[in-house]
Amino acid sequence: MVTANIGRWALLPLILALSASAGKLHRRVPSAAGLAQYASGRKSNSPAAAQAVIQAIGDQPPSLAAIKAASVKHAQSHYNSSTHSSHKNSSSSPSGHKVPTYPQMLDIGEVYLRDPTIIYDAKLKQYIVAGTDDKLVYYSSSNLTGPYTRNGNCLSATPNIPNPGVASPWAPSLFYNSAAQVYQVFYCVSAFGTRSSAIALAVSSTGEPGSFQDKGALFFSSDRTDYNALDPALTPDGGHLSYGSYFGGVYIAKMTQGSGGDASVSPDNLPGTLVAAGYANGNPVEGSYVYESKQQDAEGYYYLFVSQGQCCGFDLAHLPADDTTEYKVLVGRSKSVTGPYLDKQGKDMAEGGGSLVLSSSPGATYAPGGQSVYRDPVSGRDVMVFHYSQKSDANAYARLGMYYLDFEGGWPSVVGK
Ligand SMILES: *[C@@H]1O[C@H](CO)[C@@H](O)[C@H](O)[C@H]1NC(C)=O
Ligand SMILES: *[C@@H]1O[C@H](CO)[C@@H](O)[C@H](O)[C@H]1NC(C)=O
Ligand SMILES: *[C@@H]1O[C@H](CO)[C@@H](O)[C@H](O)[C@H]1NC(C)=O
Repeated sequence: MVTANIGRWALLPLILALSASAGKLHRRVPSAAGLAQYASGRKSNSPAAAQAVIQAIGDQPPSLAAIKAASVKHAQSHYNSSTHSSHKNSSSSPSGHKVPTYPQMLDIGEVYLRDPTIIYDAKLKQYIVAGTDDKLVYYSSSNLTGPYTRNGNCLSATPNIPNPGVASPWAPSLFYNSAAQVYQVFYCVSAFGTRSSAIALAVSSTGEPGSFQDKGALFFSSDRTDYNALDPALTPDGGHLSYGSYFGGVYIAKMTQGSGGDASVSPDNLPGTLVAAGYANGNPVEGSYVYESKQQDAEGYYYLFVSQGQCCGFDLAHLPADDTTEYKVLVGRSKSVTGPYLDKQGKDMAEGGGSLVLSSSPGATYAPGGQSVYRDPVSGRDVMVFHYSQKSDANAYARLGMYYLDFEGGWPSVVGK
């Protein structure tokens, strides 16, 4: 089932490019109906689809030619402003830019989704993988490496969150709350391409598909806030939430767990501590995940993983020559859960730092990101799940990818087996 497999920011680069030139899109509130139609029906990011979104946003729809021109301009400025490559033409660079290569991913079969999260349910003896799409798509398997079967959704009904009024939930993060003995799924809803967003929570005592009960929104963001309430994940200390995307960077805010598996974030603790930001224009950072490994060399550190670069909506005719400018996974580490998170060079991620964990690699993955990291209780190994595309269909589908992580030397690297 791939009909609704689109990225949450699939068209944002186009919309931003257009809004920069038109200077008037950023305050529009999309109509819920238009966005729901977009979110549930379309799987490609063609100019026609972009036009449909902009129509849904309520502006005068620009011509297809204008969208194409904006898209080319965006791709160029994205390429030109790359912060992670000093070479405009890597393949011919005399100073020998090296294209990163990675070991083969774990062979898990074809699973279509974005922004995956994984957890092992010891009672069901099943791995659960959830992701963006529908009411948070739910896949399960008795084996970490699959095969995974689609089993409906986490939520039985679309979330009823008053503002921004967009029903389609994104970017789930699954956790087991052992004190309350419930599974928790943090997720977000957002009016596409705006900061009109909310972070919400649903809980389940069994972890079964459709059993997650909505606890409603934890907090909201709007055009009047600097932050964007997107991509939530519980931190390993259990007392904070990392969140935030695209507009204004990634934050870590104090969160209080309730006794029934509910949770709250006090407005006094918002937006929290800024932990990742400052990437070059057109290179947003999102999809944060804080992880604590039990591997010896990782001892004493929290690791902040983020996705950075353009996730989707690619101008396939003008892709950058250097694959590392597209969506990729970066990491930094800190002894404190609220940071500062420094990369291998000692650069603070709040100032654009971040060491590369995974990027596109020729012939294999394109624009990997939306990652989360999990300690598999069966094998005892650290596992990173993420989505990726292939260059040939980079605008249409995203697939589930999986690697083990090795923290040898104190920094994570991907391992295929
Ligand atoms: C990007 O670089 C190319 C080649 O150097 C140039 O032709 C183009 O105008 C630049 N685009 C932007 C938006 O800066
Ligand atoms: C970039 O590299 C390609 C492949 O090696 C080459 O054909 C092309 O001429 C190069 N372009 C520039 C501007 O150096
Ligand atoms: C999971 O599947 C892999 C690949 O087929 C197999 O080697 C492994 O033994 C399986 N693990 C379990 C716990 O069944």
